[in-house]
Amino acid sequence: MIDFKFNLAKGVSGDAYADYLTKAKTFVQRAEEDDFGGWVNLPVNYDRDEFARIKAAAKKINGDSDYLVCIGIGGSYLGHKAVIEALGGERSRTKILYAGNSLSARALEKALAELGDADFSINVISKSGTTTEPAVAFRVFKQKLIAKYGEEEAAKRIFATTDAAKGALHDEAKANGYESFVVPDNIGGRYSVFTAVGLLPIAVAGIDIDALMDGAAEERAATISDGGKAAEYAAVRNTLLAQGYDIEILANFEPDFMYFNEWWKQLYGESEGKEGKGIYPASVIDSTDLHSMGQYIQEGRRALFETFVELAADKNGVTVPQFGENLDGLAYLEGKELDWINKTACEATREAHLAGGVSILEVVMPDLDERSLGGLIYFFEMACALSGFVLGVNPFNQPGVEAYKTRMFELLGKPGYEK
Ligand code: PA5
Repeated sequence: MIDFKFNLAKGVSGDAYADYLTKAKTFVQRAEEDDFGGWVNLPVNYDRDEFARIKAAAKKINGDSDYLVCIGIGGSYLGHKAVIEALGGERSRTKILYAGNSLSARALEKALAELGDADFSINVISKSGTTTEPAVAFRVFKQKLIAKYGEEEAAKRIFATTDAAKGALHDEAKANGYESFVVPDNIGGRYSVFTAVGLLPIAVAGIDIDALMDGAAEERAATISDGGKAAEYAAVRNTLLAQGYDIEILANFEPDFMYFNEWWKQLYGESEGKEGKGIYPASVIDSTDLHSMGQYIQEGRRALFETFVELAADKNGVTVPQFGENLDGLAYLEGKELDWINKTACEATREAHLAGGVSILEVVMPDLDERSLGGLIYFFEMACALSGFVLGVNPFNQPGVEAYKTRMFELLGKPGYEK
């Protein structure tokens, strides 16, 4: 289970915390009953038949594809990329190639070049089925797939994850006989990791999706009655925001968590940043970023707080080698585990930043495996919903995302968007 603790910096008041916590606890039911609250019970209440189809599709893809081209943007790719990378990358023969998460011609050409003449399948993921970035990339990769395999075989290599009943992608999948998986109506993109959106690519990567779901179910059990530790995290965030601390930095000492940070930023940024409110979510990977952002965090404008994602378990492995000479001055670390040194650096960073006026929050996961990661994702989803409700916003919509689309469609000349 996920643990949570915090240490407020000197001068920061914790007076309002108890009130925020009381409020956060009451919002679990509201999240569960919301039209977009389908993720709350998903870890225990998911479509078992579809789950089995996901495993079967993953097996087929592993059997006939060197690459799975995963096409999607925002909530349609960040979650599964976060999970696969945090767990050390693909364990199967099939490499996941990401596309359709930008409009960069260079990025698309790079992906096509990497794919070369290898065998591949496509998982096109779009809840709306109309998002420009994935739609463009899908055309490009579909053309390549048809050129390589012909129409009939290509249709067997395209897997569509989209709305159950409507949308351009749904209609195309139906017309061409692509195997389809569902993004449930009551689950938004950024809360969709435990749906087919996340599960198919994760399963193709050879990661145990049963264990991932078990971890999420365990965390659901720990939070479903009164929010548990997730409510505490939601409450302390609001306590800090009310005092002007409106930047949160998610800090991690594992480079493989870079995309986890990106997923977390989308979850919190899109859920809370509206109506002129919200904490700005930022992230660092330490100790790397202590040599770039560390100066600002230690001594810059005091408007930020830090949330460390930590691993309780030790990773036994590399130790500092012994040498007869001590020219680098490292003799005092000879024989020490690198993981212990990394954890010590984390502890030192927390203490130094706290002394520098940065409130420190700690989210501790038991280990770096499917189960713990499933729990961590669910913890942050629950906390995000509760925190958004405490803040007084709807944590499940994203009206602001439409503004750039409308203007882009005008400029691109999309029919119906003429000025
Ligand atoms: O979280 C969200 O809802 C968004 O980030 C969407 O996932 C993103 O905009 C992609 O939308 P769609 O899946 O409809 O293509």
